[in-house]
Amino acid sequence: MRHLLNPLDFSVEEIDQLLNLATDIEHNPKKYAHVCDGKKIATLFYEPSTRTRLSFEAAMLNLGGSVLGFSSASSSSAAKGESVADTIRMVSCYADICAMRHPKEGAPLVASMHSSIPVINAGDGGHQHPSQTLTDLMTIHSLLGRLSGMTVGLCGDLKFGRTVHSLISALVRYPDVKFVLISPPELRIPEYIREDVLRANNIEFKEVGNLDEAMPELDILYMTRVQKERFFNEDDYIRLKDCYILNKEKMKLAKEKMFVLHPLPRVNEISVEVDDDPRAAYFRQVQYGVYVRMALIMTLLEVEKPC
Ligand code: NCD
Repeated sequence: MRHLLNPLDFSVEEIDQLLNLATDIEHNPKKYAHVCDGKKIATLFYEPSTRTRLSFEAAMLNLGGSVLGFSSASSSSAAKGESVADTIRMVSCYADICAMRHPKEGAPLVASMHSSIPVINAGDGGHQHPSQTLTDLMTIHSLLGRLSGMTVGLCGDLKFGRTVHSLISALVRYPDVKFVLISPPELRIPEYIREDVLRANNIEFKEVGNLDEAMPELDILYMTRVQKERFFNEDDYIRLKDCYILNKEKMKLAKEKMFVLHPLPRVNEISVEVDDDPRAAYFRQVQYGVYVRMALIMTLLEVEKPC
């Protein structure tokens, strides 16, 4: 039985297969409408979510399966003090697969150790978010036609942004990918990403503070929200929350074919005036998230691809 806890749980070849499957689903959705008939996904969300939870649920419904779960810790037995280990043992009796989001780093890993069904990490604290990464990879591949030979700018809260950590970890496995890491000094990427992921793999990267200067060299700009819920001090959040705002003026500095991604939700970091720019890809990214999660559910449940 397999889980998805970290983007590296799948090899590059397996990710290729998964993205191919997701693309086939995109073009032939009817073919997949019953491949998970009778299967259930449990969405165990101990932290707020709109897209991730609903896209897992939409994905399972699109495959003919059904969904159960909870959307906040307060409405689950966690509020009574139940451990993740006990919850997953019980959920294993109700569902065939589960997606878990939890404020504590490593909670889905603990769940996987006590689970008899596949566990998908749907975001664990400021750590990882691998299903978002699969979504990001499918989006980049669809926009640029490749996952190699590009310069990726990641901008905003690189410290607490788990989507950033997972995306960097996944992209270092493709040839000739360079990174420009744009953040205020307080929100730089964590040491383990800098040392164990970037430096350990001899990846070309730079850490800068100025978005305007970085814009012209980027093929992808991945904007992120300042992660309010992970700050210890409200004053720090208020000081940093509007450190970058992408607007029409800034978009003029970018390549004609540079695409803007964002895992969403957006707060202020992308001005709504950018939404009409053909390079704004963050709502298309949401749609890819459903196809990729359909492919992920099929892969982890070992459902045969229909002919
Ligand atoms: C992200 C998350 O939860 O980490 N959202 C998402 O899953 N699409 C990004 C965020 O909350 O800022």
